[in-house]
Amino acid sequence: GESDKGDYPHHMLKEIYEQPETVANAMRGRLDDSDSTAHFGGLNLTAKQLRNIDRVVMTACGTSYHAGLVGEYLFEELARLPVEVEYASEFRYRNPPMDPRTILVAITQSGETADTLAAMREGKRMGHPALAICNAVGSTIAREADGGVYLHAGPEIGVASTKAFTSQSTVLTMLALYFGRTRHLSSLQGQRIIDELRALPDAIRKALGCHEQVKKIANRYAECNNFLYLGRQYLYPVALEGALKLKEISYIHAEGYPAAEMKHGPIALVDPHTPSVFLVPRGNVFDKVMSNMQEIKARRGPVIAVCSEGDREVATVADDMITVPDVPEYLQPIVTAIPLQLLAYEIAVLRGCDVDKPRNLAKSVTVE
Ligand code: G6P
Repeated sequence: GESDKGDYPHHMLKEIYEQPETVANAMRGRLDDSDSTAHFGGLNLTAKQLRNIDRVVMTACGTSYHAGLVGEYLFEELARLPVEVEYASEFRYRNPPMDPRTILVAITQSGETADTLAAMREGKRMGHPALAICNAVGSTIAREADGGVYLHAGPEIGVASTKAFTSQSTVLTMLALYFGRTRHLSSLQGQRIIDELRALPDAIRKALGCHEQVKKIANRYAECNNFLYLGRQYLYPVALEGALKLKEISYIHAEGYPAAEMKHGPIALVDPHTPSVFLVPRGNVFDKVMSNMQEIKARRGPVIAVCSEGDREVATVADDMITVPDVPEYLQPIVTAIPLQLLAYEIAVLRGCDVDKPRNLAKSVTVE
C-alpha cells in the first residue's frame, strides 16, 4: 500500500535508496575471514560436486539476465570458469550439448518467471545440478532448484527491478569468489575481495549522492525520444540495464550497446537530440571508452558521462557528468547502476509516467 513507501513518492525510489542495506544483507554472514572465502548455507552440493564443475550456464529474463551477464565477467575473471548466459525463453527450446560437469544457475527475483522455471526444469532433466539465485523465499524456482542463494533484499514492489539487480550482482561476486577459492585464487586474493566487498555498501551510499546531478540532467534531456547507453567489459551489461530501465518506465526508446560496437550501426542514430550515456569510470578500458566518446562528440551527439569523481579528462569531452566513487572494476557494475536507475526514474517522473506500474509490464511474468 501507500504507507510502506515511507517518505518516498514511489516504491521504485524507496527501493533504489535501500541498496546500501540490501547489498549488505546479501553479504551478511557469508564472508569468512578465517578461510578468505564466501560460504552459503543452501548450495546443497557436495564439496566434490562443486569442485568438479567446469562450466556454468546462467539463465534468466529481463534485469536478472543482465545480472547474469555481469556474472559471466565475474566468473571468468575471479573463478576462471567458462560461462554462458542465455535468455530463459531461448534456452528452454534449445538442445545444447551439455556435460554433467556443467552447472545451471537460474537467476530470478520473483522465483516465479515461467520461462526461467521451464529452463531450469529442462536443465535438471538433462542431469545438471541447478542452483537458484532468488529473492522470494519459498518461491517455485527456489523450491525446485537443487540448491540456491537467497538475496535477502526484502520485497521488491516497483515493476522495474532495481535493488534485485545489485543484490544479484553481489551474490554472483561472492559465488565467483567461492568457486575461485576452490580453484586458483590465493587466500590473499580472496581476502582482498572480501575487504572490497565490505566497502561496497558505503560506496553505494556515496553513489546515491549523485541524485542532484541526475535531476539536473534529467531536466535537460527528458524530452529526447532516443537514447544510447554505452559501456565496455563489466559495464556493457550495465549499459543494457540502463537502457532497459529507461524503456520500461519512461517509454523512451533506448539502446544499450558495447561502446565500440556502436560504430557498426547505432552511430548512424547520433544527432544533437540523441544523447549517449557513457559508462566511463577509471579502469583498464578507460582510454578506449574515451575515444568512443570522442567519436560521438564528433557527430554532435550530446554525451552524459558516468565517471569517477573529479575526472578532468572526461570533463573535456562530456556535456554532463555524473560522478560515482572509485571501486575495483569487478564492482563497478553495482556502483554505476545506481545513477542509471535514478536517471530513468527522474525522466519518467518528468514525463508523467506511472513509475511503479508501467503500462504493459508485469512484476512477474508467470505465463510463457
Ligand atoms: C519482468 C519484470 C522485470 C524482471 C523480469 C524477470 O519482466 O518486469 O523487472 O527483471 O520479469 O523477473 P524475475 O523475477 O525472474 O527476476
